[in-house]
Amino acid sequence: MCGIVGYVGFRPAPEFLIDGLRRLEYRGYDSAGIAVQHCDEIGIRKRAGRVEELAKLVEANPVEGSVGIGHTRWATHGETTDINSHPHVGGNGEVVIVHNGVIENYVKLREQLQTLGYVFRTTTDSEIIAHMICHYWLEQIKLGEDPESHETCLKAIQLSVARFKGTYGVVAIFRDIPDVIFAARMGSPLVIGIGKIRNEHFIASDASPFVGYTNEVVYINDHEIAVITADRMDLHHQESGKTTPSIHTLDQVSSDIDLGDFEHYMLKEIFEQPEAIENCLRGRIDEESATARFGGLNLTPRELRQIDRIIFTACGTSWHAGLVGEYLFEEFARIPTEVEYASELRYRNPPMSEDTMVFAITQSGETADTLAAMRECKRKGHKSMAICNVVGSTIAREADGGIYLHAGPEIGVASTKAFTSQVTALTLLALYFGRIRDLSYPAGKRIIKMLRAMPELIQQTLACNDHVRDVAERYFGFNNYLYMGRLYNFPVALEGALKLKEISYIHAEGYPAAEMKHGPIALVDEQTPSVFVVPHGGIYPKVMSNLEEVKARRGPVIAIACEGDHRISDLADEVIFVPDVEEFLQPLVTSIPLQLLSYHVAVLRGCNVDRPRNLAKSVTVE
Ligand code: AGP
Repeated sequence: MCGIVGYVGFRPAPEFLIDGLRRLEYRGYDSAGIAVQHCDEIGIRKRAGRVEELAKLVEANPVEGSVGIGHTRWATHGETTDINSHPHVGGNGEVVIVHNGVIENYVKLREQLQTLGYVFRTTTDSEIIAHMICHYWLEQIKLGEDPESHETCLKAIQLSVARFKGTYGVVAIFRDIPDVIFAARMGSPLVIGIGKIRNEHFIASDASPFVGYTNEVVYINDHEIAVITADRMDLHHQESGKTTPSIHTLDQVSSDIDLGDFEHYMLKEIFEQPEAIENCLRGRIDEESATARFGGLNLTPRELRQIDRIIFTACGTSWHAGLVGEYLFEEFARIPTEVEYASELRYRNPPMSEDTMVFAITQSGETADTLAAMRECKRKGHKSMAICNVVGSTIAREADGGIYLHAGPEIGVASTKAFTSQVTALTLLALYFGRIRDLSYPAGKRIIKMLRAMPELIQQTLACNDHVRDVAERYFGFNNYLYMGRLYNFPVALEGALKLKEISYIHAEGYPAAEMKHGPIALVDEQTPSVFVVPHGGIYPKVMSNLEEVKARRGPVIAIACEGDHRISDLADEVIFVPDVEEFLQPLVTSIPLQLLSYHVAVLRGCNVDRPRNLAKSVTVE
């Protein structure tokens, strides 16, 4: 997803902007650019390609100044070209902007601006923002407003954004008004960093560019516009006028975003899972009452007992975690539970009882579809909770309550530690909801005992890494895979297939294993490996039968099985063993070799593991 960064203060802006864009690379992008203001000139350097190439462009053709904005573009409208890269220029250079989001009515607005004489240079939707702000600024001046007043600029932006349909996080600078940055937000996140040593302010799509500069931030909300100089920051709401900013203190430290000794963030985050699960469990186990405890549900047990249906809504990997959650809640809380794709739920309008509670499951807390689905349910009066990894993110702030994963920043686009942390949080939630209903004390104690052992068991599972790399070396050349699992391991099969798809670009499909007979088995041949997630459990024999059906058709089989399983090696071509744990905890170990398999296959295929093509870490557009 696009990344925005901005600076106003005493430092050389280009260095901060380029470094900030490097820290936002994980969001996914295809071009980058900066605009720096010096006296009454704005220098722009932008191009398609990586931030490194932009840095070389700036080195070869420097810009100077201590006010500037920067952008990494994830193309939505308009191809990936130098001219379509941000920043965009309004009018004859009076206004320069960067934008994250989609202006849905841009075609009509573009036509209107063209009839007013504005000349468009790009094929993007974002360019209309620059011209629209310029137009209203010039109109204000014609009405006698002071061209150099911040109020005049603010009014021009207010009039402009009132015309937009869709989403925007837009940051603007004015050529003739030095030392001030303006920012407006509707749907696409923007956060302001407050300088701690001297007068300076930062702005970005998320707080990662601020690490090492400040940990005090202000989140811009929808309908708000910020006016930011080196020594002050004012927030204005479209309807209610000037608002008092609320300052949050971040608890992340810079070491979290260092790569350490790992070659890729994805591998680092796979190996951080024991610690991430430990952090997710910390302080949330109530041994005495054999239950879990949370500080942020903001509902009493009596209110929670009224809940007669649960809906998990999410996208991608988080949806897979929600499917595990569905099984956990049905088993332990005995509450009717469904997981819904957020992009569907936001428009589907399913019948929901008054006491249906909605959980938005999201690593980033900014996924547009998940945010919209949660808002739609809140609009109807349903209690909404967020299971989220990013403190202060939009979904976390708008939910009625929720649970933070405490997994630390997940930089790799492919979600790994967030998935297992989400599953851990959902297990704790199912325990909690079960224990305020019919789950017995002994049952609660058993669950807690097994949960406490998971960080160590995940650590043990990671020992399969070398073996998985060997398997990947034998299988990275195949171009189609099937992933099979049942019950708690069906979501794991889906997640394993997604991991392989998204970072190695190999076609992979996940199915409930018994579904093989209803179509997918037609795909089985010697060129199509099937990955079976087949740990011990009540239906182990059934899954083994499905596996044999594949072998009977000479399909190669890679099996994820339990240590101590002596049958599997006679059948499968490859076996990766994991610790033998209770079925409801199996996703926490069986997903690990699948993460590693996708990682090693992608590396062997020369793919960009941390920033796979076409993908973004946080999809903040529909
Ligand atoms: C998972 O590896 C992908 N990066 C993607 O499916 C992701 O899970 C999805 O976009 C949801 O993101 P969120 O958890 O931040 O809402």
